[in-house]
Amino acid sequence: METVVEKLQTAASFIKSKITDIPNIGIVLGSGLGDFADSLEDKVEIPYSEIPGFHQTTVLGHAGKLVVGKIEGVNVAVMQGRIHAYEGHSMEEVVHPVRVLGMMGVKTLVLTNAAGGVNANYHPGQLILIKDHINFTGKNPLIGPNLDELGTRFPDMSFAWDPNLREIAKKAASDIGYDLQEGVYVGVLGPTYETPSEVRMFGMLGGDMVGMSTVAENIAAVHMGMKVMGISCVTNMAAGIEKGELKHEDIKDQAAQVMTKFCDILKSVVKSHG
Ligand code: HPA
Repeated sequence: METVVEKLQTAASFIKSKITDIPNIGIVLGSGLGDFADSLEDKVEIPYSEIPGFHQTTVLGHAGKLVVGKIEGVNVAVMQGRIHAYEGHSMEEVVHPVRVLGMMGVKTLVLTNAAGGVNANYHPGQLILIKDHINFTGKNPLIGPNLDELGTRFPDMSFAWDPNLREIAKKAASDIGYDLQEGVYVGVLGPTYETPSEVRMFGMLGGDMVGMSTVAENIAAVHMGMKVMGISCVTNMAAGIEKGELKHEDIKDQAAQVMTKFCDILKSVVKSHG
């Protein structure tokens, strides 16, 4: 049986055999945010079903393919959709794609997601730069024997969300006149949305938004020494903050509304890596 590291190498070699240039930057697009991949030139698209160890996502609004190409000459690998632990995947499976990007030589990773607004000052449709996270999943992708080839046993999480990349994102946003605020992302397992009491608790603990992805990927990437940046699209106010029910359809609609700004900020971040 292949070891975890061998599985990563198999997938990385497979992807490399399909592309010409190694990407400088990897981007994971969350629910409803997949359209960014359309901005790439000289695209090579690889469905997850063809890549060893990748799984097709079951979530509506996630295309499920890796798109490798260029933005103004910078080589980018974009994951159009991701899998989540609530779909029944192990943490090892959830972080496999991000680790494969790391294996291929990607040094900078941008994680994006749809999230519920816990901070009452936020509004649906707002983009928030991830300043830090609280891992509330009760899981960690690094549990088990440490994979010394990838990184150290006890990774430092002081700069899990890279300060330099955050500055780049803020500058990119201000260049297009967007007031990009920073917030703390609380990662939960799902698939239920939170109860109003849980949302109140997350607010008291210092959380600003809540979502069901991203944290495990961040941990795996930091372990490998990648620099990570993150943007949440607040698609709804989390339960109890506003009246009414939460529906996945509304979440996709809100993401569509901010698509242009989202793409402009990401493109500018990518260009800074040229
Ligand atoms: N909670 C958790 N995850 C989410 C939410 C939410 O309110 N909105 C989008 N993803």
